[in-house]
Amino acid sequence: MIKPIDGAALEAQRRSIKQVRSLLDAEYAASGRRRTALIETYGCQQNEADSDRMRGMLEQMGFAPAADRQQADLIVFNTCAVREHAELKVFGNVGALKARKAKNPRFVLGIAGCMMQQPHRVEEMLKKYPQVDFILGTGTFFRLPEAVLSALTGGARQAFIESETSAIPEGLPVRRESPVRAWVTVMYGCNNFCSYCVVPYTRGREVSREAEPIVEEVRGLVEQGYRDITLLGQNVNSYGRGTAGGLDFSDLLARLDAIEGDFWLRFMTSHPKDATPKLFETMAKGRHIAHQLHLPVQCGSDEVLHEMNRRYTVAQYRELVAQARSLMPDLTLSSDIIVGFPGETEAQFEDTLALVREIGFDSLFTFAFSRRKGTRAYDMKGQLSTAEKKERLARLMQAQQEVSLRRNRLLLGKELRLLVEAPGREQDSLLQCRTEGGKLCYIPGPHSLIGQFVTARVTQAKTFVLYGELAGS
Ligand code: SAH
Ligand code: SF4
Ligand code: F3S
Repeated sequence: MIKPIDGAALEAQRRSIKQVRSLLDAEYAASGRRRTALIETYGCQQNEADSDRMRGMLEQMGFAPAADRQQADLIVFNTCAVREHAELKVFGNVGALKARKAKNPRFVLGIAGCMMQQPHRVEEMLKKYPQVDFILGTGTFFRLPEAVLSALTGGARQAFIESETSAIPEGLPVRRESPVRAWVTVMYGCNNFCSYCVVPYTRGREVSREAEPIVEEVRGLVEQGYRDITLLGQNVNSYGRGTAGGLDFSDLLARLDAIEGDFWLRFMTSHPKDATPKLFETMAKGRHIAHQLHLPVQCGSDEVLHEMNRRYTVAQYRELVAQARSLMPDLTLSSDIIVGFPGETEAQFEDTLALVREIGFDSLFTFAFSRRKGTRAYDMKGQLSTAEKKERLARLMQAQQEVSLRRNRLLLGKELRLLVEAPGREQDSLLQCRTEGGKLCYIPGPHSLIGQFVTARVTQAKTFVLYGELAGS
């Protein structure tokens, strides 16, 4: 069984935190200026959750948050490897910091995350980018204090990498970006090996946290005023394997649902092969569980699904959606789709388009297939050109936009419960709110409502956002 990070390793980090803290405090006393740090996160919420912990450690080390890249004395890029595009962006950003490091040797640059779980990327980073001070893997990010201390005291450049998840990062400080929404990882890694996907290689095998620390974390968040809590895992439905408590994901949800307070509980991602009627029943019965489901279908052709190693058919997917919707008629449903998988024919792509229209997803994350080194699909025959993939992606997005608008219009005139998250980004007089289904909705109202649930009537429905008014106003 994989256990939490052992006490001695945590203690070593605490010592490093203290040492950095006294260095930075002395510097602050002399100069009146606190060093600032920035974590820039790429990829999925799993990385966001890891970044929250790195931010927590940086805060304890005595760094103030940096407003932007330009002002930061320390930057960590927490990287993603799921598509080439994300990787190229990181190389571009690291490249642009070369001059900064040359001018200011006190500037510290670290790279963490999934990209650094690939040996060829680590080698490239160390060889071509001397401005990088340290590298952390997905299972070693908790060693950030040690890495920072070494960088600040003139230590050699270092890569802290382990090939497998070897410890669950319990007991680390956390600094969350939003005072209202929080991520809670319930399981790490993935065992599914979808043939296109690099995640099982970068995040290692599935490991679930014990239920108790999860329940305690969620209870604590609710007490602190968090109102929108998302449980995270690459495949939350296989939660529980190998834990002492032996709860499955539905049991865990039910335990969390029993927590008193006013909050929404969401989760992602559910793999269709493991989603069960028990899960939908638990959601439907829950007091706090949002009627929202992210259920990635990936494509609408059985042959392609088979090649992707997804282990369900289109018919089975349809049946799942029907079950979920019959128990929760107000369900908000989203999905992921990859176009241009090797060998995908025009007819198979059209099957995907037809499925998207038939199911009527509220929203869709759409991707052009990207060849990932080490995955089975990398060498498959029938690779499509970039132009072909782009063309299919554009047609899929167009189809989905029509569907999203159709789905959003169904909400016109309805009164919805909204969570007020933040001031509106573009118009300060509007408040940014979230529906139970996770949709964005803007309403006019005072900033004092931030962090509260309100009831509002939807007055305008667009493709990506809703607008509304407080009920009774
Ligand atoms: N565990 C989650 C997804 C993690 S990655 C799940 O199974 O749904 C998020 C999404 O990125 C995937 O659902 C898939 O649609 C997309 N993706 C993964 N690998 C990809 C690749 N090589 N090319 C294009 N898209 C990819
Ligand atoms: Fe990747 Fe498939 Fe695992 Fe999701 S379930 S992380 S797509 S291998
Ligand atoms: Fe990317 Fe790693 Fe998440 S590869 S999608 S950041 S698990």
